[in-house]
Amino acid sequence: MTDSPVRVAVIGSGPAGFYTAGHLLKDSTGRFEVDMLERLPTPFGLVRFGVAPDHPKIKSVTRVYEKTAAHPRFRFFGNVHFGEHVSREDLLSHYHAIVYATGSPADRALGIPGEDLPGSHAATEFVGWYNGHPDHTDLEVDLLSAERALIIGNGNVALDVARMLVLTASELAPTDTADHALDVLAHSRICEVVVVGRRGPAQSAFTNPELLELGELSDADVVVDPAELERALAVPDTYAEADVTSRRNVEILRSYATHPSRGHRKRIVLRFLLSPTTFIPDEHGRLGAVELIRNELVPGPSGGLLAQPTDERETIPAGLAFRAIGYRGIPLPGVPFDERSAVIPNDTGRVLDPSTGAPLPGEYVVGWIKRGPSGVIGTNKKDAQETVDAILADLSSAGVDGGGGVGDDDGDAHLLTPGSPDPAAIESLLRARQPDLVTYAGWTEIDRHERSLGEPIGRPRVKLTRIEEMLRIAASESPGEDDLNGPRAG
Ligand SMILES: NC(=O)c1ccc[n+]([C@@H]2O[C@H](COP(=O)([O-])OP(=O)(O)OC[C@H]3O[C@@H](n4cnc5c(N)ncnc54)[C@H](OP(=O)(O)O)[C@@H]3O)[C@@H](O)[C@H]2O)c1
Repeated sequence: MTDSPVRVAVIGSGPAGFYTAGHLLKDSTGRFEVDMLERLPTPFGLVRFGVAPDHPKIKSVTRVYEKTAAHPRFRFFGNVHFGEHVSREDLLSHYHAIVYATGSPADRALGIPGEDLPGSHAATEFVGWYNGHPDHTDLEVDLLSAERALIIGNGNVALDVARMLVLTASELAPTDTADHALDVLAHSRICEVVVVGRRGPAQSAFTNPELLELGELSDADVVVDPAELERALAVPDTYAEADVTSRRNVEILRSYATHPSRGHRKRIVLRFLLSPTTFIPDEHGRLGAVELIRNELVPGPSGGLLAQPTDERETIPAGLAFRAIGYRGIPLPGVPFDERSAVIPNDTGRVLDPSTGAPLPGEYVVGWIKRGPSGVIGTNKKDAQETVDAILADLSSAGVDGGGGVGDDDGDAHLLTPGSPDPAAIESLLRARQPDLVTYAGWTEIDRHERSLGEPIGRPRVKLTRIEEMLRIAASESPGEDDLNGPRAG
């Protein structure tokens, strides 16, 4: 094998994309050159726009990604829309491999009446709003009149949203919560947040530290009804009993159920065995209440417990509701997509042709768009290794052409065979189609600007939330800093 460069385009700059780039660049052959294409002018995906602002330690993982970005064989092209500024075919002709790392950016709907009433939101849009995602800057969340919010779902996103709704102004002040959200959250009238699970505590998708954290809030009590808790635990669940996280969650919830109130102003109420059936409008046509049906747990076909509705109903008045029932991947133009599971069909990271089931040469996938929206940030490191291992295996089974490009002598290998694509050619194409291209140097300017706004007021950063603002700051990058996008950047 010659040591000619192997050029890889990674689409998306969240944790999965960055771990993929990192693993490729650390490969001992030293042959990989990675270009990362990102829809927004800013990198880091869910670390910037999904991780809750009161979790700065989790966000500090970006230091690892910054090291990857500083690698001389890495380039970042932000503000590039796949399917608009660049097509799958463009990339196939400029790279040996493409890795799709676009995550699961959409929300899932409950499909029940009243779901679209004003006051009913997807958690994804609320999370994007308080985290300064440019797509959600203008969201209107009526925290100034609603006093109770209902959150549907028993995962960590539900807990993030619940915490953000009850954190005090002084707890929020030192965070990187978007300014527009800080103002509204500081004046919020919400005093009760009800988190509703369709199954029981043992089946919840919370992780232990996130559940424990609720008990440490400075101005909110956690309320669990012991009778409801024990009713939900009455049906044995062998899967849950074998799961250490589930067992610990049950312990934590039992301790909340027996804790006396700490007399705080606000409360988070954790409810179980309830599914919303209707979002009911108030006299102004906004959300006024949610009707729920009580469930019982019954064994499902695969042995786990399922929620089965009973005849009992309950109505909870609430001016706001957030559905936190998971994320969903969205199709990329021209790229195979499995509508049912909302992922790109793949075998250990190799994208599969839906009509033949065979791997598509040179196309790979990683992260949530590969396996669905599950796991924590670190899960993507291992997941990226699996995809990179597939690329390495395909590379080693590929022949090598005389011109130094990656070849496919036996027709059996899965890497593309474009010879030795010129890195300058794709950059010229991108710049021609998107004059407002943001390089890593441009992002560094945005980063520096945001930090400089935050530093005097004791905040990690003040986020820019408008694309135009980001582009203006990115454009102020000094010419000498272009090498931050790697020496190959023209
Ligand atoms: N701090 C952190 O580490 C952190 C923070 C945020 C997110 N995350 C991770 O990000 C991933 C996504 O989190 P997530 O909270 O969006 O999803 P999730 O963990 O998959 O939880 C989704 C919840 O929604 C429920 N649900 C699904 N469909 C429903 C329906 N039709 N009606 C009622 N309930 C329904 C599920 O119940 P069933 O179990 O009954 O289906 C489950 O309780 C997870 O892996 C999570 O751990 C981590």
